[in-house]
Amino acid sequence: MSESNQAHRKDEHLSLSVNIWRQNKRLQVGANFDDIRWLPDTFPEMSVSDVDLGVMLLNHHFDWPFYIEAMTGGSHLTSRINGQLAQAAQKTNLAMAVGSQSIALKESDAVASFKIARQNNPDGFLIANLGADHSIKNVRDAIDMIDANAIEMHVNVAQELVMAEGDREFYWLDNLSTIIAKSPVPVIIKEVGFGMSNQAFKTIKQLAPAAINVGGANGTNFAVIERRRNRQPDTFNIDQYGLSTVESLLSAQFSNNQIPLIATGGIQSANDIITSLMLGASLTSSAGFMLATLMDKGETALIQQIEDWQRALPRLFTLLGAKNGQSLQHAERLYSPALQNFINQRQSATH
Ligand SMILES: Cc1cc2nc3c(=O)[nH]c(=O)nc-3n(C[C@H](O)[C@H](O)[C@H](O)COP(=O)(O)O)c2cc1C
Repeated sequence: MSESNQAHRKDEHLSLSVNIWRQNKRLQVGANFDDIRWLPDTFPEMSVSDVDLGVMLLNHHFDWPFYIEAMTGGSHLTSRINGQLAQAAQKTNLAMAVGSQSIALKESDAVASFKIARQNNPDGFLIANLGADHSIKNVRDAIDMIDANAIEMHVNVAQELVMAEGDREFYWLDNLSTIIAKSPVPVIIKEVGFGMSNQAFKTIKQLAPAAINVGGANGTNFAVIERRRNRQPDTFNIDQYGLSTVESLLSAQFSNNQIPLIATGGIQSANDIITSLMLGASLTSSAGFMLATLMDKGETALIQQIEDWQRALPRLFTLLGAKNGQSLQHAERLYSPALQNFINQRQSATH
């Protein structure tokens, strides 16, 4: 059966992003996780079994401070992948988000490629996903489709603008306010890899969603992916645009953000999770790296990788003398000169 243009786009996103991760050709935009060094805690005075990794958020107790982030659905290929990701989530007790369900609201053939995530993980925490311009009716339909426990509304100006067929009008705030007021499940406002600056957190404060996913740069880069898809490499180049995950988390602090944060963008180790929690994230998530592992090495390898992270985290907490995520925020650290420069410029910025 032939598939629609939108379904084809899903497959292209998938293969291009996996290629970029596989070739390790990701561009670095701003400070990265290794711009933060952890100071040794010589006397932690605790044992590994004291560590509590649990997180209360979105009306739920998460056993692990990371989950599988939104990627896919909408085509035959992505249906298989959603099924495998959901199985891996089920076996490791991780939460999972599906990719944008917009296609399934237009094309009924695409619905099964999202439902499979719920079928393969009947009791798991599953997060729906739609763009910020979708109506409350669509939000309800997307939630019902997979019996979702929360929904991410993605804000992706840069991705749309770099996409040849992307949106060119961005009036989202009133709509998001309605959705946050009326959604039957908690709403997360989510960037897709370009990060958020001080002003964004001030604006989102008025909306008061259940959580903000800062979606920072240095992981999957949709500017690069969309330019490759457009096959017009140099007409609109914003490859170096955005703030990294580290910089976005710090920007939230500079804005006195009080809304719980989720860190996504470039997370590819338990160490990256720790650094994100140190910088104020309550939860973290990983997309491209998990996908590349699944595509290159298979589902068993993905499960092993997740279990490796799950084994490493309590030891890393202990290394830093932290019994939970909250105390990790006080762990001492050193910032590289580049990151310190960012802090100097941005910590008192009004915009
Ligand atoms: C193949 C692919 C498809 C994606 N599709 C979506 C999507 O439909 N909706 C969304 O909110 N984010 C989407 N994302 C973005 C991720 O959720 C995440 O924000 C971004 O990739 C940064 O995380 P990473 O560096 O761990 O990949 C997609 C990412 C990938 C790799």
